[in-house]
Amino acid sequence: MKAIILYDSRSSNGSTEAVIDAIGLGLVEAGFYVEKAKCRATADYSFVKDFDLVILGAPVYYFVVASQLLGALIHGNLKKNLKRKKIALFLTCGSSQSTAAVLYLPQLKIHLIRNKILAEKIFLPSVLSDGDALELFVEDVLHQYNKSLKSRALSAKWTNEAQEWFQSMPSFMQGKFRTMAEEYAEEMGYKEITLAVLEEARDTLGGT
Ligand SMILES: Cc1cc2nc3c(=O)[nH]c(=O)nc-3n(C[C@H](O)[C@H](O)[C@H](O)COP(=O)(O)O)c2cc1C
Repeated sequence: MKAIILYDSRSSNGSTEAVIDAIGLGLVEAGFYVEKAKCRATADYSFVKDFDLVILGAPVYYFVVASQLLGALIHGNLKKNLKRKKIALFLTCGSSQSTAAVLYLPQLKIHLIRNKILAEKIFLPSVLSDGDALELFVEDVLHQYNKSLKSRALSAKWTNEAQEWFQSMPSFMQGKFRTMAEEYAEEMGYKEITLAVLEEARDTLGGT
């Protein structure tokens, strides 16, 4: 299992990096191979495809999530390379949990609406003296990650409508399409394959 922590911060050895190191250690202890990479908006993120779990984290400066991570999602090819990835998010900031949940987290989540977000966390400055919060976040990520793997084993059920649409496809395309749709539904945690799920899979996977 491979995890990458993609982050941005203006500070070297600041609170964001301290959080990352603690998360990384927790994941390593759970058996993950872990790398971290500091974002640049214009970097090529095709390497992200090699990882099973992606953690995105950044501080907030002047009400905005640190710009290189946000820029990589908005202007770079990070979003494209996060397709079908299991993601966890965290922010470090000085505001209250409620402010951060309303003002800051959505700045990331709006670019990840098609992703399975396993866990999200806002770390306030006190976290650095509170190892429990970091441990709980890692536990949450691992729990959700393992749950999503287990749900893979249960194959999603096709609705009649989706099945009829599938039968109308040329037979030579059916095998590949069925696998693609079922893998997509499993990765997204969908219990049913509906027409809407098929459309979503087509839109999401269309370019890959
Ligand atoms: C210049 C500056 C601006 C900041 N602006 C905000 C802000 O608008 N909202 C907030 O909640 N925290 C803000 N903070 C607090 C940081 O988000 C917080 O201290 C964070 O942990 C810093 O991460 P770092 O150590 O990796 O730089 C600001 C901190 C700095 C230094």
